[in-house]
Amino acid sequence: MRNVDENTITQIVLARHAEGANPRLNQIMTSLVQHLHAFAREVRLTEEEWFKGIEFLTAAGHITDDKRQEFILLSDTLGLSMLVTAMNNRKPEGCTESTVLGPFFVADAPGYQNGDDVANGAKGEPCLVTGRVKGLDGEPVANAIIDVWQADSDGFYDVQYEGNADALGRGRLRSRADGSFNFRSVTAESYPIPYDGPVGKMLEALGRHPWRPAHLHFMIEAPGYERLITHVFRSGDRYLDSDAVFGVRSSLIADWQQHDAGIAPDGTKIDVPYSTLDFTFVLNPAHESAV
Ligand code: BEZ
Ligand code: FE
Repeated sequence: MRNVDENTITQIVLARHAEGANPRLNQIMTSLVQHLHAFAREVRLTEEEWFKGIEFLTAAGHITDDKRQEFILLSDTLGLSMLVTAMNNRKPEGCTESTVLGPFFVADAPGYQNGDDVANGAKGEPCLVTGRVKGLDGEPVANAIIDVWQADSDGFYDVQYEGNADALGRGRLRSRADGSFNFRSVTAESYPIPYDGPVGKMLEALGRHPWRPAHLHFMIEAPGYERLITHVFRSGDRYLDSDAVFGVRSSLIADWQQHDAGIAPDGTKIDVPYSTLDFTFVLNPAHESAV
């Protein structure tokens, strides 16, 4: 095909896609090309702007490695991650809502027993977390695998510390027969997503801040139930209505109760002020179809 022009190029590109090999890939790429071309036409993209886009993506690639995922940050800050999460995790009323996974989940985190301290030296005020895992009919979910991970009081996850190989503020435990679980960690604080790369520059250019409201991440898995990936957000946080990645759901906001030093509810003596959090997670049975 010769003499392709601005009016004919979209259809000509689409006609080039081979029929049949992978119908889903074809559907996705057809739609992507159509939207990409429509976008360029709508904003009348200049050559300089096109090149800035190429430079942006190149910088995102250069800063990405096994510890830093700039493309997930880009997806998160453009709202794409939350859109995909919401579309793919529709649940019946009463189930705990899902939110974004984020880039700091680590598979195979160290295992802990109920009552253990998953902080493992992470900086911050002590926090005692109690919770329970239930099904939609209120039945206790025993032996659920509960992954928890969080930032320390300086706003960093363990994997963000150069040279650190220890799991800090991260661990995996199981619910008891009655669905309950408890662990110790540090009090969650608001923190900025990494903003020293191209996504940070983009946010700044758009007049957006990089902050996330204080939260704990949870991933909960149990046979017969859908996997739940979610956060618990700290009530009163100043960023609850302007989360940089659009992940807040009202149903996921809980109170962190503050306490003076003394004997904690679990019987341990804590010499410094500490907080407590209690949250109930309701899993969607695996057979429930999306609504
Ligand atoms: C997080 O909560 O860990 C997170 C989510 C999205 C982008 C950056 C961090
Ligand atoms: Fe986080």
